[in-house]
Amino acid sequence: MKRIGILLGVLLLAAAVFLAVWTMIPRETQPEQPALMFRYADNQPKGYPTTQAADYFAELVEKRTDGKIVIRVFPDSVLGNEISVFRQMQFGGIDFARLSVSTLSEFVPEISILQLPYLFEDAEHMWRVLDGEIGKQLLESIRPFGLAGMSWFDAGSRNIYTKTPVTSLDDIRHLRIRVQESDFLSRMVSLWGAVPVKISYESVYSALQTGKIDGAENNWPSYEATGHYEVAPYYLLDAHSRLPEAQLISRNALEEISALGEEYVDIVLQCAAESAQYERELWKEREARSEAIVRESGCIVTELSEEETKRFQDAVAPIYEEFTGDRAEMIRRIQED
Ligand code: GCU
Repeated sequence: MKRIGILLGVLLLAAAVFLAVWTMIPRETQPEQPALMFRYADNQPKGYPTTQAADYFAELVEKRTDGKIVIRVFPDSVLGNEISVFRQMQFGGIDFARLSVSTLSEFVPEISILQLPYLFEDAEHMWRVLDGEIGKQLLESIRPFGLAGMSWFDAGSRNIYTKTPVTSLDDIRHLRIRVQESDFLSRMVSLWGAVPVKISYESVYSALQTGKIDGAENNWPSYEATGHYEVAPYYLLDAHSRLPEAQLISRNALEEISALGEEYVDIVLQCAAESAQYERELWKEREARSEAIVRESGCIVTELSEEETKRFQDAVAPIYEEFTGDRAEMIRRIQED
């Protein structure tokens, strides 16, 4: 009996010592369990401006929510191509993503306006529009489709590239040019007299390599990062469009975050805005670096004369007629901005 008493006493003492030591450990060394864990999708590789900005976003959110919200970024289309990512977000399978406006336009007709060729004069013009009322209105237009737009990312201007030499509009007639999975872009390419082929981003390299297509179109960083310049070395600077990209959150994730506390929604949106500013900086650097890599590799880069650029523009002008009423009015506001 006496032995049991001693044993109990020792155990109690040990428990008291353990408790005292535990409470003396500084709070930050006791890991906070995340309350919410999310997945973020991007089809670009690690180290690309958009995925670097996504990593930065995830870091900021984790830090500012004291580890309560943890976001894991999946680059390189590991969660699927952009069309499938949009659908998965609608059903809550993916929580965050960065998508091209061409993909968004397939689901959200209002966004399509941003795909219009030769809509913006330059990057400054685009940012005046996106940072203003129209940009806000367009992000809002995504909400009824089960996800919300948080911020805009830069993706520069897009140019045509081919496997065979092209220096003018006449040279691209009848060529098979890859477009994103978009009827709108198919129509644009048809107006140039070329044959549009819809292919998802991940499959363009092999389509070029096997000759399924003769060319494609994209910005400098994508042309370089995907290695398309190795198989289609003629880059024609027609700068036909400036397609920005949107950083998105699913309705599901938004609801879970507001259930944790409205202040967390504000934190996440603030981090999205900061990561978008960061992406714009990274974009400028990467655009210049990619251009240098491509040029040094021996690709033939062709500048277009004003006259030839005008021919490209005139050929696609009828596409503007598809926008009537409020949408025509928005085009006018953009052009006057
Ligand atoms: C850009 C953009 C991608 C898009 C791709 C495409 O690279 O960043 O999001 O998928 O264009 O042409 O499909």
